[in-house]
Amino acid sequence: MLVGKRVCLRPIEREDLERFVRFFADPEVRANLDMVLGLSNAQEITWFEEQSRQPLLEQPFAVDLVQGTDKPRLIGGAGLRAFDWRNRSAELGLVIGDKSMWGQGLGTEVTRLLLRHAFFTLNLHRVWLRVFADHVRAQKVYEKVGFTLEGRQRDGDFRNGRYRDVLVYSLLSREWRQRVGEPEAPPPPTTPRSDG
Ligand SMILES: CC(C)(COP(=O)(O)OP(=O)(O)OC[C@H]1O[C@@H](n2cnc3c(N)ncnc32)[C@H](O)[C@@H]1OP(=O)(O)O)[C@@H](O)C(=O)NCCC(=O)NCCS
Repeated sequence: MLVGKRVCLRPIEREDLERFVRFFADPEVRANLDMVLGLSNAQEITWFEEQSRQPLLEQPFAVDLVQGTDKPRLIGGAGLRAFDWRNRSAELGLVIGDKSMWGQGLGTEVTRLLLRHAFFTLNLHRVWLRVFADHVRAQKVYEKVGFTLEGRQRDGDFRNGRYRDVLVYSLLSREWRQRVGEPEAPPPPTTPRSDG
């Protein structure tokens, strides 16, 4: 569980699925996700079961609002995927599915929690993400927490009868450590040479 001031990231439960289906039924929530159509309950259950078969450290999180509510309230999902353990990289994604919660700094808090988890717990080296070129709100979040724009997939997405570019951002472990004031991770131990 990743605990922040206002949100908490925890494993997804079967009981959450209905709410996720409702989040994704909203065209405004889907508009900037790699999801053109919503999901049926059955499709969501299939997704959940597939995720449950992934290694524990690769499974996505439910995002609960924990501040100002009597009990935690599910407001979205977030996680890392496309794990490449040899190169130590993964792709970050998040959705605040409850639109009434947008623009209050929660997306930024979720992103920071995921980055801390990625670099300080999973020992990843590079976290990257894709965001549509016209999705300025999300770009603000990613730039605010230190991501660097590294590329543009021209006409990378087609919907509503037009193409739009897809931007690729990344953040390296050393850049993150510098931002949060943590020293570089020590190098891995080496075997002493026998020839002195
Ligand atoms: C994108 C998303 C994660 C952002 O989360 P959020 O909680 O709304 O974001 P925050 O409140 O932390 O930060 C938003 C920033 O964008 C700014 N912003 C908001 N609307 C904006 C707009 N239309 N144009 C430019 N900037 C905007 C805010 O001022 C804020 O920046 P600031 O903190 O410097 O003032 C959330 O809106 C969401 O989940 N959307 C649906 C799914 C999605 O798009 N996921 C991301 C896919 S890449």
